[in-house]
Amino acid sequence: FGESTTTAAPPVAELHLHIEGTLQPELIFALAERNGIELPYADLDELRARYEFTDLQSFLDLYYANMAVLRTEQDFADMTRAYLARAAAGGVRHVEVMMDPQAHISRGVALETCVNGVASALATSVEDFGVSTLLIAAFLRDMSEESALEVLEQLLAMKAPIAGIGLDSAEVGNPPSKFERLYRRAAEAGLRRIAHAGEEGPASYIYEALDLLGAERIDHGIRCMEDTALVERLVAGQIPLTVCPLSNVRLRAVDTLADHPLPAMLAAGLNVSVNSDDPAYFGGYVDDNFEQLVAVHRLSVADRARLAANSVRSSFADEARKAELL
Ligand code: ADE
Ligand code: ZN
Repeated sequence: FGESTTTAAPPVAELHLHIEGTLQPELIFALAERNGIELPYADLDELRARYEFTDLQSFLDLYYANMAVLRTEQDFADMTRAYLARAAAGGVRHVEVMMDPQAHISRGVALETCVNGVASALATSVEDFGVSTLLIAAFLRDMSEESALEVLEQLLAMKAPIAGIGLDSAEVGNPPSKFERLYRRAAEAGLRRIAHAGEEGPASYIYEALDLLGAERIDHGIRCMEDTALVERLVAGQIPLTVCPLSNVRLRAVDTLADHPLPAMLAAGLNVSVNSDDPAYFGGYVDDNFEQLVAVHRLSVADRARLAANSVRSSFADEARKAELL
């Protein structure tokens, strides 16, 4: 009875966020104008009408197409600052930002341009927004491992300020086993390792991400619920799963929010957190995900506190920062 409005939300870390997925329709039009790019949409409404997805690939097609407006360092920095401002307003205090370098270099944007643009906004995120940040370079699993290795070497050579690597894009047919050498190289270079697994792909991809890639965190992971032995292992090791409820509904990984396994995952003792994935595309930021979960699943204050604490503990922030947020 009113508890959700009278209890201050605890600080949250966002661990599953694609910076390119924060590009809002208004910013797409503004950047197109600034860069003299002609968009295939007459107006905002025509663009917004495309945000109706049937699966992961139908989203990825629009997500990659809209990146065409990102040309300069300033574009990447503006997009990143817009996200940080909105996330901070929603109670996010620490973010581990993924970016997709291959999606930019493949269309002729220099690696330095995209990395430096995002990194420059992250460098002042504490002063500007009170949000601590880390950068994670994600690799596109529907491209070759050679391409990923080449970009990783370039990132290391330019001393890009990345804390770790991730694996994203079209999951089914592109199992973690395809990227064993990439993850071995990242480990050698002292980088943290995360991977998307068990979003659309089977539970076996989660085993592969853990056993073959040494993944420290699994992005999504919801399909673990199909495998009892896997759930037991994830609970025993308290392996973090960065769950994205609104994303799963919009990409039809689950039918409705009411069918979402998050409450069952919490009840099973899994280390789950709530994240927005691509908030400009899926109808909400972290606070919106919490709000809708609370409305539909009646999450208790204790559940919300646990989700928030899981997010902070599962982050790659240093111990002093974690202690501030717990
Ligand atoms: N890239 C951006 N969002 C993604 C998602 N939800 N799954 C896989 N790749 C992505
Ligand atoms: Zn994702």
